[in-house]
Amino acid sequence: MTTNDISLPEALLRALRGSQRIAVLTGAGISAESGVPMFRDTMTGLWARYNPEDLATPEAFRRDPKLVWGWYAWRRALVAQATPNAGHLALAELERRIPGFTLITQNVDGLHRRAGSRRVLELHGNITRNKCFDEGTLVEDWEETGSVPPLCPRCGGYVRPDVVWFGEVLPEQALEEALEASRGCELFLCVGTSALVQPAASLPFEALRAGARVLEVNPDATPLTPHATWSLRGTAGMMLPELLDRL
Ligand code: OAD
Repeated sequence: MTTNDISLPEALLRALRGSQRIAVLTGAGISAESGVPMFRDTMTGLWARYNPEDLATPEAFRRDPKLVWGWYAWRRALVAQATPNAGHLALAELERRIPGFTLITQNVDGLHRRAGSRRVLELHGNITRNKCFDEGTLVEDWEETGSVPPLCPRCGGYVRPDVVWFGEVLPEQALEEALEASRGCELFLCVGTSALVQPAASLPFEALRAGARVLEVNPDATPLTPHATWSLRGTAGMMLPELLDRL
């Protein structure tokens, strides 16, 4: 299918062209076409017997820090090999064209920035950064002592990835700005997320409540689908460049 074969509702095109303030929430689906496995994908190889939701918690790290560090090392290697795809690039271009554009992501892979997006609200942190498990302060370097995970140079505690785990609070400032953008936008795009994990999943509903129109881009239905103004069933890599083309 060429992009011109995708038919888009006229009202959607009008909303897209007429909106000065657009907010976008992305999830793992947008990075799937870059080869980064989705959070709820069955994990492969060594990790096939684990459920990601059982590894991404402070309790899991306390119980078995080496296991959790190893899982993140595996995910970091996948992210390092991945490159941004047409969906990420289209959002970076939208930021350049729309004055009131806000990109909110649940992804920790940093691909939006690598695609050229300048302002990204990373609600769940970034896998390429580390922090001290005990102090919460960023750790950029450590001495190689053979310890896995490595040790914080200040306090000697374990280093962990700077991501948000289940049961942890989101970065306050990013969440506040995300809420503000969702409540203040005219059009909200919800791209590649299963819309299951709070508080991110509530953002499109905040937008709807404040009178915005909501467009979902996802090959599958989600709990948001029945509430969305429009739902485009397709991949981010196909749909987002098409939306940009028709702007
Ligand atoms: P999920 O893995 O739950 O959902 C990915 C969504 O992307 C699904 O709805 C897919 O149908 C859709 N999808 C698949 N391929 C796609 C494509 N090419 N284009 C567009 N959509 C596609 O990932 P998230 O919704 O991001 O949180 O998960 C949200 C949070 O749940 C994660 O950030 C993580 C997890 O718990 C934490 O770790 C705190």
